[in-house]
Amino acid sequence: MCGIIGYVGKRSAWEMILGGLKRLEYRGYDSAGIATISDGQLLLSRRVGPIRTLEEETPDGLPGNAGIGHTRWATHGTVTEANCHPHRDSKNRVAVVHNGIVDNVEELRAELVAGGSQFRSETDTEVLAELVGQAVASGKSLPDAVVAALNRVEGTAGIVVIDQARPDRLVAARIGSPVVLGIGDGETWVASDQLALRPYTDRMVVLDDGEIAEVTAHTFKTVDLDKQAHSKRVEEILTPPDATELGDYPHYMLKEIHEQPDAVDRSMRGRLNAAMGSAHLGGLQSQGARLFDVQRVVFFGCGTSLYSAEVGAYLMSSYARVPAHAQDAAELAVQNPIVDSRTLYVAISQSGETADVLAALHEIRVKGGLVAGVTNVVGSSLARDTDFGTYVHAGPEISVCSTKAFTAQVLATELLALQFARMRDMSATDGRAWLRALEQLPEQVAFMLEQAPACRSLAQRFGGSKYTMFVGRGVNVPVAQEGALKLKEICYVPAEGMSGAAMKHGPLALIEPGLPVWALVPPDETRERMLGNLRELKARGAHISAVAIADDKEVAGLVDQVIPLPRHHPAVSPILTVIPLQLYAYYTALKLGYDIDKPRNLAKSVTVM
Ligand code: F6R
Repeated sequence: MCGIIGYVGKRSAWEMILGGLKRLEYRGYDSAGIATISDGQLLLSRRVGPIRTLEEETPDGLPGNAGIGHTRWATHGTVTEANCHPHRDSKNRVAVVHNGIVDNVEELRAELVAGGSQFRSETDTEVLAELVGQAVASGKSLPDAVVAALNRVEGTAGIVVIDQARPDRLVAARIGSPVVLGIGDGETWVASDQLALRPYTDRMVVLDDGEIAEVTAHTFKTVDLDKQAHSKRVEEILTPPDATELGDYPHYMLKEIHEQPDAVDRSMRGRLNAAMGSAHLGGLQSQGARLFDVQRVVFFGCGTSLYSAEVGAYLMSSYARVPAHAQDAAELAVQNPIVDSRTLYVAISQSGETADVLAALHEIRVKGGLVAGVTNVVGSSLARDTDFGTYVHAGPEISVCSTKAFTAQVLATELLALQFARMRDMSATDGRAWLRALEQLPEQVAFMLEQAPACRSLAQRFGGSKYTMFVGRGVNVPVAQEGALKLKEICYVPAEGMSGAAMKHGPLALIEPGLPVWALVPPDETRERMLGNLRELKARGAHISAVAIADDKEVAGLVDQVIPLPRHHPAVSPILTVIPLQLYAYYTALKLGYDIDKPRNLAKSVTVM
């Protein structure tokens, strides 16, 4: 949720950390701060607002070759300078940046206050800083002090700590929140996200859960919470150095929407078996005969990833004829799920770090269930903690509002359902027809992007509406919900996505003349029923924009505007129908003048439950 970075080496820590924070700003952006050590002194600068404010209001930066920084999305305590990270112990000797939550904070704070500690903020992190500070003051080395503090803490912590008495080192730990080390030539970085490191180095060490690392400019050592040494492998960072550059686009969201033809192409490269009319997801293959025993599939995720999970469940049950459903990971995690050995669980998460998704998958695994992961981030917690899985290869998604990850995730579920369908009773002929439809997608997605001017003029006209409804049926119900989520998230417009069938049971009462409605009417088995829903909407005066094939005259006669779809196989329609909805949300936010890539109250990757 927040972004953390540390540096020790020969260059200005301030410059290195500021650059890293700018790349991490999408992880949280309500306040930011940096601490460095210079001449044996701990120096600190923190500001409420974007990183730009911290930079402008610290014109000379801070001296020193070691330091830590943080960009925050508030969880404990309001957005104030006192609550910004880094936090210090009461003697101002150590400073800590922290991602995660200390669950037993009240108990620890009460104990420390009783012992004479004074706190300057409302945060749980300051309690952690005080525990580390007291441990170093008692003579412990910095790594031992961090181990001692973490052994008292319940919750999650990705942390980096500096001690003014040891300006040549940083200590980092990963307890349920990701931490990677960047290995340079006489310099070392620590970050919560490898994207922060990529311009500086292409070598990293990914800490495993429960590991603590002590790093200097030239060395790193890793131990666990029992102080047992771990040996680690240096891995290559595969993301290209310019993958996070904005290029000529005004916003990451628009860039990522336009990257979808490539992302979709990459997601299926090497995974289609044209001869057999099937797909082969490598991870799935590794399970061999175990997959024949699967009698049920449960997809789970949160937000946009829940909607791709719902598409996946629809495809799996319709085409592979395997009973399947999708569930909100947050609910699955807490409902003591009944797990059986013949169910395949599929966890979907762009970041691979969403706390509710990880909690659900840990709950299922502890009960002996088989969990597959679908994620975009190589080496993420989800990728590490599942039995097998697949990367969607959408490329880094920086805009908080997810777009290309959705289409790439849906594509992964298409491949999974196709593979299952071919393992069951789908014929090679039907498999090949689906496969050909998948192969056409990059071109067809590019065609949908050409509809941007029409989406833009609809946004100009309806951008300020008090309510917007999105309707679809069948596999397009979750797409309608995804369209509404985009509008809520970046335009702050009340919106709902639903089945056309659900309208009459209440929401139709909201419709009044001129209110915008988006209808998804692809030429599949749901079309006839959608026509009935269009008539109901038209009778109440809604302004209807329909996503439908261009020569569907019946649809054209019932709606105000058609955004054309190319002819396609019904299984792939969600990857096409969602594009105009993404564009409409983007242009609406542009018209309303909002900060498109950093919507209020949100941050990329929700690492708290
Ligand atoms: C919406 C959005 C969120 C995420 C959700 C899950 O645009 O980005 O709804 O989809 O927070 O995130 P991941 O996929 O990283 O688990």
